Amino acid sequence: MVAAEPKVTKVTPQKLTQWKQQGRQIAALTASDYSFAKLLDAAGIDLVLVGDSLTMVALGYETTLSVTLDEMIHHAKAVRRGVKRALLVCDLPFLSYEDSKSQALHSAGRVLKETGAQAVKLEGGYPAVTEIVTHLVERGIPVMGHLGLTPQSIHNLGLRQQGRTAEARQRILDQAIALEAAGAFAIVLEHIPSNLAVEITQSLSIPTIGIGAGPNCDGQILVTHDLLGLSDRQPPFARVYADLRTTILQATQEFCEDVREHRFTID
Ligand code: KIV
Repeated sequence: MVAAEPKVTKVTPQKLTQWKQQGRQIAALTASDYSFAKLLDAAGIDLVLVGDSLTMVALGYETTLSVTLDEMIHHAKAVRRGVKRALLVCDLPFLSYEDSKSQALHSAGRVLKETGAQAVKLEGGYPAVTEIVTHLVERGIPVMGHLGLTPQSIHNLGLRQQGRTAEARQRILDQAIALEAAGAFAIVLEHIPSNLAVEITQSLSIPTIGIGAGPNCDGQILVTHDLLGLSDRQPPFARVYADLRTTILQATQEFCEDVREHRFTID
């Protein structure tokens, strides 16, 4: 008899709100392939994001602008096969949602149908974006927002910290409130002052997930390649928990030497 797989209670968007109410912090990481996704899920991560940062860390481009919807779907399908418990969210890439509500619905619908992701994330909080969020949420697609440094706007905003003037702070706070009203279930806050992140977190009933936004959001997200020391370039707010770059270089060099020195044996 084949043993039944243990039943896993999947993390849902509603669970994240419950955790915020209980003061239980949310731990989130990115993934772009099956092997890493499986390890993150086994280690107990709460949310896995197929982030468009994969454009740089997995595909080798300079910015997130290059990735296509088809490529995001390809990666998200692989990640889905590795993730059993965590909430799986997939980024909508640059120009796959900004043009119209129907473009956004078509793209987000493809992501949910073809990959099995439970939600999409999109960047920005201007009225056109919040209208898109409402459109998707009303049609049954859970949406996570992303404010502050929004890398898809790199040519407008650069990669510097956002929300440094009183006006910019107010704009980001207003956008966060508007995204919640539009039905977003959580908001990523990237590279903003810590005290602004606190103000936003206290103003919302949905969770905030910070990256470079201080320790007092409802959760934290990192790019897994940064966490594991695998990135070529890390943002100033990255936290490195392991040096896999050195481990991989050493293992590969050792293998090369063994082969070349006729030391490589198979038992
Ligand atoms: O693409 C990504 O990895 C992200 C995180 C930085 C939140 O959006």
